[in-house]
Amino acid sequence: MRDHGLVFDLSGKVVVITGGGRGIGRGITRAMAKAGANVVVAAREVQPLLDAVAEARGLGVEALHVPTDITRPSEIGALVARTLEVFGGIDCWVNNAGSATTDDIGPLIDLTEKQWDVVVDLNLKWTFFAAQAAARAMTRGGSIINISSRSGSQPNPMTGHYGAAKAGVENLTATMAVEWGHMGIRVNAVAPGVVVTENSVVLDRPSRRRRQLETIPLRRLGTVDDIGALCVYLASDEASWVTGEVIQVHGGSRIPIGLLSYLYHVNERLGWNDL
Ligand SMILES: NC(=O)c1ccc[n+]([C@@H]2O[C@H](COP(=O)([O-])OP(=O)(O)OC[C@H]3O[C@@H](n4cnc5c(N)ncnc54)[C@H](OP(=O)(O)O)[C@@H]3O)[C@@H](O)[C@H]2O)c1
Repeated sequence: MRDHGLVFDLSGKVVVITGGGRGIGRGITRAMAKAGANVVVAAREVQPLLDAVAEARGLGVEALHVPTDITRPSEIGALVARTLEVFGGIDCWVNNAGSATTDDIGPLIDLTEKQWDVVVDLNLKWTFFAAQAAARAMTRGGSIINISSRSGSQPNPMTGHYGAAKAGVENLTATMAVEWGHMGIRVNAVAPGVVVTENSVVLDRPSRRRRQLETIPLRRLGTVDDIGALCVYLASDEASWVTGEVIQVHGGSRIPIGLLSYLYHVNERLGWNDL
């Protein structure tokens, strides 16, 4: 332990972050490293991982990158094996890899099996099997953090299958917490609202950005550091009695903006907005 008297000290802990090279995952990696954890970042594209490793080392911790496609069981296995080989254990595993690209979304009435499989497999199936692999390797206990979304607990026009996958993650989080509690493994989910990343195309238009802001009592969009800070807490010993929870982080916004926008457009098409 570092002798600086701070809480949330992760010195000596080993944290694996899937999708840790960019977006929210990069924010989580940075936050973990700032708190003193050694970090392992895993995703398909190598350069963002190298950048994350360089940043973490600059913060004074050890860092490792393992190119990984999380949808391939052999690569999940290799990620666990390499982490154990280099660091000798895993204290925290953050299941952050996930998304739904514009090619894979649309109204439920038109949704194809392929779109369903791509999104639900990445966000639900492989999140589960990555968590299972992590739990099997956590012989000294640990903390698993599943990155869900506010979409997991609200209607999501145009991304219904993504929301269903995240709802599944939240439900599995509760069961994992129960089944793995006696192994000293805590499992929690973090459900962010809108967080700005380099990929936030949905916020490109100023009108969309403004509409989002209007629903957020704290009057700003989320940052990757907001999510990183919560993950540091959940990885820390201070959270040692917290498990099975879904913690929402959204600046107080409880209004599903995607639903409102969708209904607005439907009403416009039906000529109801003039009523
Ligand atoms: N941004 C938001 O507003 C928001 C809100 C709520 C929840 N979330 C959730 O937060 C998490 C991160 O989202 P983000 O906005 O940061 O997304 P992002 O910028 O698109 O990043 C996604 C990350 O996941 C990795 N990834 C994707 N497919 C992968 C695969 N098959 N194997 C390994 N890694 C893979 C990507 O790396 P590679 O492409 O290099 O593999 C990338 O690092 C996701 O679970 C998302 O659902 C985001």
